Amino acid sequence: MEIVTKSKPTILIILGATGDLTWRKLMPAVYNLYLDKWLPDEFAVIGVSYLKMSGKKFNEHLHEGVNKFSRRGKAKKKEWDDFAECLTYHTGEFHDDSTYSFLEKEIKKIEKKWKVTANRIFYLAVPPNSFEEISIKIGSSGLAENKLQSCIVIEKPFGHDLESAAKLNELLHTIFSESQIYRIDHYLAKETVQNILAFRFSNALFEPIWNRNFVDSVQITVFEQLGVGNRGNYYETAGALRDMIQNHLLQLLCLIAMEPPVSFEADEVRNRKVDVINALRKISTDEVYKHAIRGQYGPGWIKGKKVKGYRQEPDVSKDSNRETFAAVKLFIDNWRWQGVPFYLRTGKRMNETISVITIQFKSVPHQSFPPEARVNMQPNKIIIDIQPHMGIHMRFQAKRPGLKMMLYPVDMKFNYNESYTSGTPEAYETLLLDILESDKTLFMRADQVEADWKALMPVITSWENNPSVNFPNYDAGVQGPDESEAFLSKE
Ligand code: BG6
Repeated sequence: MEIVTKSKPTILIILGATGDLTWRKLMPAVYNLYLDKWLPDEFAVIGVSYLKMSGKKFNEHLHEGVNKFSRRGKAKKKEWDDFAECLTYHTGEFHDDSTYSFLEKEIKKIEKKWKVTANRIFYLAVPPNSFEEISIKIGSSGLAENKLQSCIVIEKPFGHDLESAAKLNELLHTIFSESQIYRIDHYLAKETVQNILAFRFSNALFEPIWNRNFVDSVQITVFEQLGVGNRGNYYETAGALRDMIQNHLLQLLCLIAMEPPVSFEADEVRNRKVDVINALRKISTDEVYKHAIRGQYGPGWIKGKKVKGYRQEPDVSKDSNRETFAAVKLFIDNWRWQGVPFYLRTGKRMNETISVITIQFKSVPHQSFPPEARVNMQPNKIIIDIQPHMGIHMRFQAKRPGLKMMLYPVDMKFNYNESYTSGTPEAYETLLLDILESDKTLFMRADQVEADWKALMPVITSWENNPSVNFPNYDAGVQGPDESEAFLSKE
């Protein structure tokens, strides 16, 4: 049974309250926290956006989003109406000082009613080009003056490269202390991703083999069948490397490769993760072709339907050089992982939607079984299924029943759906609750964001300076470019 301890009175100020993120992710998450009684009794949401909209319309819009995207399905009318009493909407431009003076007045009004000084969460659910302006305004208006009771939440992408990320960090640090900043990487809050730490550090079984003496290679794969949809504008400035590898996949790498933390204090865990990134072998700009490959989807078929190529998507240039598939091979230069390749691969419009981590073990040191018994033999593997299947399985050899010795790989499985009946919270529920409780473990610290960019800058620079000559090089609906498989099997 979970023990629910309520956090302090809180006002959540969402800048960009009519956008997609608020509609699809934030509000369904806030509403589920409300239903599960995690929200403090004194809780209010002030939504701000440039769109002219009445409070009633705002309420209806969010209600529709919850009905569509909440893991619980449609909201019950009475429950939603009770919840919706905490919602306020304000039409305001982010560059306009009056937006912030309105917020100050509104916050004061709520605090007067509650007879307390409330915690203020400023959630920037806006495009990255508004981060700086809004942060500066929050600072200059004095809204976040009380450092112990205010914080800012920033979505990815955090910067466009090392230089811009460092600049953004510098700016934020003139207004907020690091402890007030929550940089989101929603992968860290996925149930199965959090379970990596539980799997590694609450079992004695795996740690002795979790190193270069036993592990042959690690593959981290995040494939999506979705294309870029209506995000062409953003994607043209990002690409798969910046959009997925710089954040989500490097985070997964850290969780697999980090040393055991002494405790689960936020900074202890984050220090161990930064150690991994700092130990990554530097990729030389001249040798990027040995360590990374890229691809772009052309037209093809997904689930029996014909789909456009990347260059035909809305807001995408007809001769775009942006990669929609990226794979990098990384080495971690430390005692535990020396010589073990980590392959990180991600792509859009792939043949399947799957996020999976495969730890592949070395072969047995001596083969006692005759060749005919070993025809189907495969290396041992631990496979962590992040989504859509959620679980972990271990692959080992067993004797296939029969009169002859015949080895065959079998799986031992842990499957969430079979082991647990309770619903799995969405990543944003976990993240929002952690923000309410000031727990920073699952958020990115300034030094890690910069270290992540630094590790990938040679690839980014090389790809930018050397446009690909063969884009599009994979059809939508296949396993990425042909080089991808060869890249994996090269070692
Ligand atoms: C986002 C990326 O961070 O993660 C998207 O910007 C991507 O391009 C998405 O589709 C994937 O997240 P999830 O939770 O659907 O795996």
